Amino acid sequence: MSLLEVSDLVVSYPIRKRFLRPNIYLDAVDRVSFEMSEGETFGLVGESGSGKSSIGRSILGLEKFNKGSITLDGEKYGYDNQKRSQHFKRNVQMIFQNSYSSFNPKKKILDIITEPLKNLTSLTLQDQRKRAIELLEIMKLSESDLEKFPDEFSGGQLQRIGVARAVATNPKLIIADEPVSALDLSVQAEVLNYMKLIQVEYKVSYLFISHDLSVVQHMCDQLAIMHKGRFVEMGSREAVYNNSTHIYTKQLLAAVPGSLSNDELDKRASVFAEYQQSKNNMYNQNGRVHDLYRLSENHLVSGKTEDKLDERAFK
Ligand SMILES: Nc1ncnc2c1ncn2[C@@H]1O[C@H](COP(=O)(O)OP(=O)(O)O)[C@@H](O)[C@H]1O
Ligand SMILES: [Mg+2]
Repeated sequence: MSLLEVSDLVVSYPIRKRFLRPNIYLDAVDRVSFEMSEGETFGLVGESGSGKSSIGRSILGLEKFNKGSITLDGEKYGYDNQKRSQHFKRNVQMIFQNSYSSFNPKKKILDIITEPLKNLTSLTLQDQRKRAIELLEIMKLSESDLEKFPDEFSGGQLQRIGVARAVATNPKLIIADEPVSALDLSVQAEVLNYMKLIQVEYKVSYLFISHDLSVVQHMCDQLAIMHKGRFVEMGSREAVYNNSTHIYTKQLLAAVPGSLSNDELDKRASVFAEYQQSKNNMYNQNGRVHDLYRLSENHLVSGKTEDKLDERAFK
């Protein structure tokens, strides 16, 4: 059984409210489906505004979704059933892009890390403290840090505290929305390493959201590339990175900064040229990205299904 199953998820926002007439909606997430197994990291990659955070927030229950369903550990949530159970809340936690702004500046680190334990478990104060110390040790912070306040830490340390807090209740899934995007490159790697340590220690799964393909590459087992509320390509890391098929994925990969050889520069130029030429074929007559079809067991790509009926992935 999958840990998480997201099925035909739609998240719409009213973009124009009209008097006595129906509002106009934007489908920020448009019929997105994916599954995650226990202990695995699923990368959700796309440009800003593609709908990544809307997926993360609606899984958590912070945002209402409009269609489809979300199933965690066999508990299914739908449009008319969005109130999360205690089991769900304990097992799905979040790491934010900017921990500093998500923490109460007047609270000590001890209270910040133990807050989910207070709300969601029946641990005694003593055991809560023990748990906080255990987590800080893994994060290479010390017991004395428990008495400090958020403004006494660097950005990287605060993200480590954010990881410690997220894993406090021993959740099965952590949704990490751009967890290192606000950090310097050198500090990014460090925080990612700590996230990996925690994953090995506690067997947690990550839904890792990022606009940066190079960050996700080192973290994920599976990934999906998102564009305008839809997935254009999804599969194992190996499939999507080494055998990328959709032109949108190819140009995202080609745009990753780095020093390139002359051959690689030529290849990049030809990918960009192909993208300019074919980008309009990405959409159907309604301007929506085409559905996914299956290329191989662990590789789906969006395309015109009338061309590829026998390869269609779904129904
Ligand atoms: N609360 C909201 N109300 C209206 N529009 C929103 C809201 N949240 C997000 N959007 C719009 O939905 C789209 C997807 O946003 P988001 O999920 O934040 O994307 P991403 O995380 O990939 O940057 C964007 O066009 C954004 O402007
Ligand atoms: Mg976002």
